[in-house]
Amino acid sequence: MNKKKVLVVFGTRPEAIKMCPLVKELRTKTSIQTVICVTGQHREMLAQVMDAFQLKADYNLDIMKPRQTLSGITVDILTRIEKVVKIENPDLILVHGDTSTSFVAALAGFYARIPVGHVEAGLRTYNMQSPYPEEFNRQAVDLITEMYFAPTETAKDNLLREGKREERIFVTGNTVIDALKTTIRNDYKNENLEWADGSRLLLLTAHRRENLGDPMRGMFQAIKRIVQEFEDVKVIYPIHKNPAVREAAKGVIADIERIRMIEPLDVVDFHNFMSRSYLILTDSGGVQEEAPSLGKPVLVMRDTTERPEGVAAGTLKLVGTREDDIFRETRRLLTDEKEYQRMSKTENPYGDGHASERIVQAILEYLEEIF
Ligand code: UD1
Ligand code: UDP
Repeated sequence: MNKKKVLVVFGTRPEAIKMCPLVKELRTKTSIQTVICVTGQHREMLAQVMDAFQLKADYNLDIMKPRQTLSGITVDILTRIEKVVKIENPDLILVHGDTSTSFVAALAGFYARIPVGHVEAGLRTYNMQSPYPEEFNRQAVDLITEMYFAPTETAKDNLLREGKREERIFVTGNTVIDALKTTIRNDYKNENLEWADGSRLLLLTAHRRENLGDPMRGMFQAIKRIVQEFEDVKVIYPIHKNPAVREAAKGVIADIERIRMIEPLDVVDFHNFMSRSYLILTDSGGVQEEAPSLGKPVLVMRDTTERPEGVAAGTLKLVGTREDDIFRETRRLLTDEKEYQRMSKTENPYGDGHASERIVQAILEYLEEIF
């Protein structure tokens, strides 16, 4: 059999965390040549992941600009990726999730008439404004996808309801759990965790575009009130590189003794921080998938979630973005032991750590079938 070529495209931190385990699994197969193209939609935060997984990109489109706009990202990727697709002429293009990188890379595949495989397909809120622009991106990718790698049965059901062909949908689990299996270490040590020793550690992340401005200031205000009320609480906030996020945080929670704002952590550090925390507050997507495996309660500071499995498992609670609601629900988990225990169960709704193997098996069968 001739070697088949798979072009894997990603560009932001979460895509990289979820695609690197898959690239590693693809590279164990001698019948497949795997080429990595990163768009560089993120720069430092992407480099952190590549270093952690010890992978190098074959192509880096290097598009990141400070305060980039959605149009700018889209145009820059589309014009630069065309050349890569032409040179490599792959048999399959793999994209991940719901970012601008995913949408544009899939579009480039469609324009070149190359089949697209969508990892983490089928997540939905059916609300185009939330998360924005991700709900559009993932639905658009799924319009032109040939192979759907759905992490859960719920995601598969969404795809079936939309009329996608069942024989093209593969329920695989989420590759983020594959990553998580390699990062948690019992003997992990870090100066920031030593600082938090003896306190209840709240781990905070926030970055969503639709939360920039007032909603984000409200989140930070709620955290500030919590720290003022509970003397045994410390907060660690690895802050996203986005300058707009940094401005919002600086205005409210800079220079508070029991709140540490630190640079983004690499994935090994972040997973171990999660596993040592008491409670997580976030608007992130990926963190919602990791927390149930670690048995860590998460207050999701968003109005919608495309991850209902974690809510059903009891680990996630959707609290919205209003200051008073976030304050009340955080306070509740700090004072109501029964509620805290109820949310601290370890469950695995997002997979068993073998998603990459299932995806690669399906790809091998597909490539054999079409050639
Ligand atoms: C992007 C994705 C979002 C995903 C998030 C993960 C889109 C539209 N958004 O949002 O779906 O949840 O990544 O974090 O695809 N920056 C740096 N260095 C970095 C990364 C970002 O300086 O390593 C700064 C730049 O000024 C950049 C800004 O952050 O312009 C925003 O980055 P961008 O990728 O546009 O948006 P995110 O909010 O990161
Ligand atoms: N993460 C990380 N370092 C950090 C914060 C988060 O490695 O300082 C990881 C986290 O474990 C998860 C992913 O980044 O796997 C989530 O990325 P993000 O919140 O940026 O994006 P989203 O998942 O919302 O698209």
